[in-house]
Amino acid sequence: MRILNVVGARPNFVKIAPLMREMRRRRGIEPILVHTGQHYDANMSDDFFKDLEIPVPDYNLGVGSGSHATQTARIMLAFEEVCAKERPDLVLVVGDVNSTLASALVAKKLGIRVAHVEAGLRSFDRTMPEEINRLLTDAIADYLFVTEESGLKNLRREGVGKEKVFFVGNVMIDTLVQNLGKIRDSRFAEELGLREREFVVVTLHRPTNVDSEERLRGILRALGNVRRTVIWPVHPRTRANMERFDLLSAPKKNGNLRLIEPLGYMQFLSLVARAAAVVTDSGGIQEETTYLKVPCLTLRENTERPVTMTLGTNVLVGTDPRRIAPALAAALKAKRRPRIPPLWDGHAAERIVSILLREARR
Ligand code: UD1
Repeated sequence: MRILNVVGARPNFVKIAPLMREMRRRRGIEPILVHTGQHYDANMSDDFFKDLEIPVPDYNLGVGSGSHATQTARIMLAFEEVCAKERPDLVLVVGDVNSTLASALVAKKLGIRVAHVEAGLRSFDRTMPEEINRLLTDAIADYLFVTEESGLKNLRREGVGKEKVFFVGNVMIDTLVQNLGKIRDSRFAEELGLREREFVVVTLHRPTNVDSEERLRGILRALGNVRRTVIWPVHPRTRANMERFDLLSAPKKNGNLRLIEPLGYMQFLSLVARAAAVVTDSGGIQEETTYLKVPCLTLRENTERPVTMTLGTNVLVGTDPRRIAPALAAALKAKRRPRIPPLWDGHAAERIVSILLREARR
């Protein structure tokens, strides 16, 4: 069974690592890895391949940045050629980025089966590009691998046949479980002079938070007033906006806020695991903090990962920066007893690959 596995952006790399490992371990599968090049800076891409021991991609489509249409179209054109050359039995896509939708669409129109890992998540907010990517990918996928029960419900409501849907757990958590030893042993926080549970980690990159000058200024002000060290590895999109809005001088006025370059997987998770709390708008980090039992404040009005709120450590703060300080104070005081969601046990990739092999034999 020849499987073309597609990745493009940072969270995809974390998800594909355990799948590639499992596919290479099992007989009867020939995995081929395609990197679309949606993310290309070393600290957004190569560093993750090294940290997570992901094999060098067989193809790099080098599409780079652009408008949604430009990026999606470039991926489609280049990926169609790869499909024509490799003639895979299956294309496997992960997550909800533009690379996910573009490659699923190409494959399906060539009559190639599509597997979507992390299917069924819904924010019900169609202004988010990721929501459109999720809806469309799930509408055409042949195998839908679901991370949490809300995904099963959403797909049922959308009329997806239940023979295509498999509740398998979370491959991002597979990667976390696999690397927990290294994350716990890391001395990176110490090297930065950070003391366990005395600092807050921030990551923000969603257009709703970082593309508006007023919002971004408000967030910087709010974080500058937190009475703990705040460490913020800044996504390139966010940094570009900070430069454009001339906000980079502001944090220097207050010593508690430290803006640093994006980190590799091991360094980043080693900070998250030791943080007092995390402030984010990322999807994956809501899940990782739930597993690590670290309070997570999500600066969004909605989440497509509700289990992180019902069982985990996640709280929706909304997008008004004035809500950050009270929400943080409450999260640090709260005595929650978070639980790890069902099947987030480090074995999701094994389940997925077993199902694919079984389906191929049918
Ligand atoms: C993308 C995904 C988002 C995901 C995020 C994780 C889509 C629609 N969005 O958002 O769902 O949560 O990745 O990080 O697919 N840039 C660089 N170097 C890089 C990559 C990006 O400088 O290696 C800059 C460019 O200015 C680019 C901008 O970041 O225009 C945005 O990159 P893009 O891939 O379009 O979206 P992200 O915001 O990273």
